[in-house]
Amino acid sequence: AVRLQESMLSSASSFKNYRGILNWCVVMLVLSNARLFLENLLRYGILVDPIQVVSLFLKDPYSWPAACLVIVSNVFIFVALYTERKLAMGSISEKVGLLIYIFNLTVILCFPMVVVLKLPSITPVGGAFALGVYTILFLKLYSYKDVNRWCRERTQVKARSLSRSLSYDRRTYMYYFVFAPTLCYELNFPRSESIRMGFLLRRFVQVLYLLFFSPLKRSALFNSVKPVFILQEMDYSRMTERLLRLAVPNHLIWLIFFYCFFHSSMNFVAELLRFGDREFYRDWWNSETITYFWQNWNIPVHKWCLRHFYKPLLRRGAGKLLSQSAVFFASAFFHEYLVSVPLRMFRLWAFMGMMAQLPLAWFVARFLRGNYGNAAVWLSLIIGQPIAVLMYVHDYYVTHCQDDPTISEAL
Ligand SMILES: CC(C)(COP(=O)(O)OP(=O)(O)OC[C@H]1O[C@@H](n2cnc3c(N)ncnc32)[C@H](O)[C@@H]1OP(=O)(O)O)[C@@H](O)C(=O)NCCC(=O)NCCS
Repeated sequence: AVRLQESMLSSASSFKNYRGILNWCVVMLVLSNARLFLENLLRYGILVDPIQVVSLFLKDPYSWPAACLVIVSNVFIFVALYTERKLAMGSISEKVGLLIYIFNLTVILCFPMVVVLKLPSITPVGGAFALGVYTILFLKLYSYKDVNRWCRERTQVKARSLSRSLSYDRRTYMYYFVFAPTLCYELNFPRSESIRMGFLLRRFVQVLYLLFFSPLKRSALFNSVKPVFILQEMDYSRMTERLLRLAVPNHLIWLIFFYCFFHSSMNFVAELLRFGDREFYRDWWNSETITYFWQNWNIPVHKWCLRHFYKPLLRRGAGKLLSQSAVFFASAFFHEYLVSVPLRMFRLWAFMGMMAQLPLAWFVARFLRGNYGNAAVWLSLIIGQPIAVLMYVHDYYVTHCQDDPTISEAL
């Protein structure tokens, strides 16, 4: 029957199901990847040989300082575990326990930083990886400390008798938590019933493909390294052109990273450990405000921030704006830590990028609504990130490569 109705693509129709469009994106991505994959294979052959990598490591572990750093991190896990055991048994006071924790957590952040800064054989990628692992461990052990204290405060007697009998189980459970895709400690994680082999295999293939073989990423990376230049020698239109040229490949890499990390890898690990809570991200792509984006894109970090930082601050009487600013300040610190230390270059671009989210959030919430708000969030992602990346690439180039004629010619 003929009636009054809107076309599906107009926003007045309130039609929301774009599943088919998503599939179209995947098909396009696979097709363009397949072409590039073949082209690369024909031109260069297979570049990474996993067996060779493993045998290299076994032969000379000192040439793999980042991997060694990660192995050493076990020491800090054991310190936390034994501190907790002593606390539960009542053989050290809460105050002493807290002091040991503060010391342990401080060393977790400082030790890898000193090693990365002092050891020239660590590459920026290796350094960033090791610092990433240590940062995750820091957040996990902080949560471990808080939750155990909360439990002790609630059921002192019960915990005491439990801790004596379960020391072996505690160790296994601690490692379960260390490997589980979450930053927030729980006494009982919800578990799925069984490991679905098909699901596991699909995630595994995705990770492998996106991490090692994705030629799209490789070509995007090569293209984005090219716009290295000296800012002082350029006018604004050239600068903008370079920025826009970097924006699209950078954004593609970021999207691939998001999918690979927050969907494929985390689900892979979760399936393997039968870890039940798979809410690693929510629909950040529909964000109409910057605030919504930060609440939904990285759920493990967001949950940690809420539980261990934001709400404790609010409970102590700090205002909402102050607490929010404090969380973004801490987040900015960690972003800077993860970028500056591996690059051995302290420029504060990452820090400022994160801090800029607060005024940006205010601006978008105040002036933009609906699709315009959503477009503003996308724009801030597509343009905002490469500005910071460009600043680092530029400064890295100026300090490291400018005098090297082979590199500057190649670029
Ligand atoms: C800062 C941040 C934590 C704020 O989160 P938010 O969701 O906007 O905070 P809200 O003020 O809406 O409150 C969230 C919670 O606190 C509670 N809350 C609010 N005011 C409260 C008060 N005065 N006392 C107690 N609880 C309060 C709310 O009820 C809500 O609880 P719920 O989650 O159980 O519903 C969030 O923006 C964030 O995580 N930012 C950093 C993200 C980040 O850096 N990520 C890095 C990724 S690489």
